[in-house]
Amino acid sequence: MNEANESSFFLCGVNDLSEGERRKFAVGSSEVLIMKLDGKIFAIEPMCTHDGTDIAQVKIHPVPGTLECSKHYAVFDVRTGTPLRGPFGADGDTQPPLRLYDFKIDTGRIMLSAKQEWGIVSEDS
Ligand code: FES
Repeated sequence: MNEANESSFFLCGVNDLSEGERRKFAVGSSEVLIMKLDGKIFAIEPMCTHDGTDIAQVKIHPVPGTLECSKHYAVFDVRTGTPLRGPFGADGDTQPPLRLYDFKIDTGRIMLSAKQEWGIVSEDS
């Protein structure tokens, strides 16, 4: 993190990511996983909502844009956070969705919004 203002944090340039690449950033006590799929950028909290497993390194299937937790195999749509399958193969109805981060792309730069749906992301937190 080398640049921030009161409302957003610079993570990296859109063109710094190749297709299918992902990068994890720490912003204060938060972790953000940025990925490029089909030319689009997505940002999620890299933590499975079942039992907190770090999902930053699990395999992502670019089409249709899903990842599978390596611990109990919950499957999520990384574009929406929607659970498609719960742990142990159950349907995803009772699995909380992945937390998505709000961000903007400003002249090719991925800027994480400080104000998220669930609160404020702060470098000091
Ligand atoms: S921790 Fe991910 S499915 Fe259980």
